[in-house]
Amino acid sequence: EKGAYEFFMLKEIDEQPGVIRGLEQTYLAEDGSVKLADDMMNALNQADRLYIVAAGTSYNAGLVGKSIFEKLAGVPTEVHIASEFGYNMPLLSDKPLFIFLTQSGETADSREVLSKVNQLGYESLTITNVPNSTLSREATYTMLLNAGPEIAVASTKAYTAQIAAETILAKGLGMLKQTAAAADFETGFELTKAANAIQSLVDQKDVVEGLAQKYLGTTRNAFYIGRGIDYQTAIEASLKLKEVSYVQTEGFASGELKHGTISLIEENTPVIAIITDPKTAALTRSNEQEVISRGASVINIVAEELATAEDQIVLPEVHPLLTPLAAIIPAQLLAYYTSKERGYDVDKPRNLAKSVTVE
Ligand code: F6R
Repeated sequence: EKGAYEFFMLKEIDEQPGVIRGLEQTYLAEDGSVKLADDMMNALNQADRLYIVAAGTSYNAGLVGKSIFEKLAGVPTEVHIASEFGYNMPLLSDKPLFIFLTQSGETADSREVLSKVNQLGYESLTITNVPNSTLSREATYTMLLNAGPEIAVASTKAYTAQIAAETILAKGLGMLKQTAAAADFETGFELTKAANAIQSLVDQKDVVEGLAQKYLGTTRNAFYIGRGIDYQTAIEASLKLKEVSYVQTEGFASGELKHGTISLIEENTPVIAIITDPKTAALTRSNEQEVISRGASVINIVAEELATAEDQIVLPEVHPLLTPLAAIIPAQLLAYYTSKERGYDVDKPRNLAKSVTVE
C-alpha cells in the first residue's frame, strides 16, 4: 500500500535504510560473521572466477559487485548483460560460478542463460527478491533480498539491496579465503553506516526536488559522470533518470567525455558529477571545468571529505566500496522529482514493464 505517498517509487526509496538493516539481521551473526549455507559458500570458494549475469538495474548492481568481490574476496569477477551472454558466451575459466542478480527472478534473458549454464553442468546462485521465482528454483543456490515487494517499475530498493547482499557474500567468501581485506571489513558496522547515510539523504528531499526543478525540468538531455566506482553509480543514475523522466541521459566515464561526447554539451546541458574517490576527485573536477567552459550547468554529488561549499549534494561518509549505496540516493530522487515535475506517471513509465519475460 502507498499510504500517504503519491507514488510507490518514493515509498521504495524511503524504505532503503530498513531493507539494508533487514539484510544485516538475516545474514549477519552477533559476532559479525556471515550466516550463509555452508554448501553454497564452499561452491563459491571452489570457483576460480565469478560470472555475474543480469539485466538493467540488476546488471548495474553487478558492476558494483565486481569491485566488491575482487577487493574483499580477491576473486576475479566478470559482469555480463544476460541478453548478450546467452548467445555470445566468452571463454569460460576452469571453474566458473554463475551469480544471477534479478529482482523479479523471472527475466527471460537471465533465464535463458541459466538454462544454458545448467546444460553445461555448472553451479549457480540466484540473488533475488522473489522466493520461488523461476531463477531461484532453477539455480543451485538462492540468496533472498527480503526487500518487500517492489511495485514501481523503476527499481530502487532492489539495487541497494543487491549491493548489500553482494557485500555480505563477498565478506563471507573473503573470510574463507582468509583475505586481509575481508578480515578488516566490519560488515555490520559498514552497512549500518551506509543505512544511516541513506536515511540522512532521504531526509534532504527538498534540496534534490529544488535541483530537479531548476536544472532538469525542461532539458532534452543530461549527463552523469564519474570515475571508477563513481562511474558505476553514474550508469545506474542515468538509467533511473532516463526511464522515468524521458530525458536522454548517459552515464559516462569522466575522462572519456573529451574523447568525443563533449561535442554534445550545449548552453545549460546538465552534467551531474559523482565524486567520492580521493584518487580521482581532482581529475573529475577538471573534467567539469571542461564542460562548464562549453556552457554546461553542473550539479555535484560529493563525499563529505571531498566537498566544497559550492557542491550542491554532500554524501555522509561511508566505506569506499559502499559509496554507490549513498551516491545513488540523490540520483533516484532527482529522477523521481524530474518525472513528477514533468507530470508523468512516475510508477509506470511509458513502454516499460516491471518484469520482462520476453527475450
Ligand atoms: C530498471 C529496471 C529494469 C530491471 C531489469 C531486470 O529500473 O527495473 O532495468 O532491473 O529489467 O529485472 P530483474 O532484476 O527483475 O531481473
